[in-house]
Amino acid sequence: MSHKRKKITVIGAGFVGSTAAHWAASKELGDVVLLDINEGAAQGKALDLFEASPVEGFDSRVTGTADYKDSAGSDVVIITAGIPRKPGMSRDDLLATNAKIMKTCCEGVKEYSPNATVIVVANPLDAMCHVAYDTLGFPKNRVVGMAGVLDSARFRSFIAEAANVSVKDVNAFVLGGHGDTMVPLPRYCSIGGAPLDRFLSEEKIEALVDRTRKGGAEIVGLLKTGSAYYAPSASAVEMAEAILKDQKRILPCACLLEGEFGYKDLFIGVLCQLGGDGVEKVVELELTEPEQAMLKNSADAVQGLVDALKGLDY
Ligand code: LAC
Repeated sequence: MSHKRKKITVIGAGFVGSTAAHWAASKELGDVVLLDINEGAAQGKALDLFEASPVEGFDSRVTGTADYKDSAGSDVVIITAGIPRKPGMSRDDLLATNAKIMKTCCEGVKEYSPNATVIVVANPLDAMCHVAYDTLGFPKNRVVGMAGVLDSARFRSFIAEAANVSVKDVNAFVLGGHGDTMVPLPRYCSIGGAPLDRFLSEEKIEALVDRTRKGGAEIVGLLKTGSAYYAPSASAVEMAEAILKDQKRILPCACLLEGEFGYKDLFIGVLCQLGGDGVEKVVELELTEPEQAMLKNSADAVQGLVDALKGLDY
């Protein structure tokens, strides 16, 4: 069956996956397939969401399944499947379990949606991008990780709250791996185009940088039984929209670097152009020495996980 509408598959019907399906359907990005090995959960949530469509007035068919056949021909696949961390755990503690899950998911995607662009969401994010890239065998522009949009969204929320301004006017971004070593870049942040230091003291900015780095853990600590899902799923869907509508957005995403910023064969968060061809370009920036050192620290942390993957049987 040929699809005139775009088709988005969300793998994993947990909180992140089902909320991503919700955002994608309500924005009418296309028809949404929610896929999970737990068939009941995927079908139940998808049916429930579809039944909300006449009330909310969105034209998206939402279906749930455990069978990759039903995801065939997807334009974009968002992979959220994996276990979340519990209080006290780092994202890195999820490596072995989630690598296995990611590999299985990608085998299904490769078979049924060979032309899809894949958005990786499971943690530890940058390492999971490597598993996805290796398993899929897709060109690098069609494998991209969601972390920078989320980390930047957290940074932007905190800045807006502290400066008492609209979130809409806050531009900010975070580079590097999605971990405690991520690199928020206040020097490149602005409020309505004006530099951050017009609004906030250096100490306050530093405190917001620190809170951003620990933003995921802050939510895990509050929830106790899971991790964040509203902002992560909204971020993944913003990326999906950029791809599906060929918006050519400039967003921070985990991309495979091949020399940019001096790194090779490594997925880390950088500013990129996202459009119909997925990652259409990586935007290189001039970094100060301290910023370069922070990025190196973050890249080293990701490289450590990628090396650890090589020793795992997944
Ligand atoms: C977070 C997790 C999902 O940052 O990585 O909330």
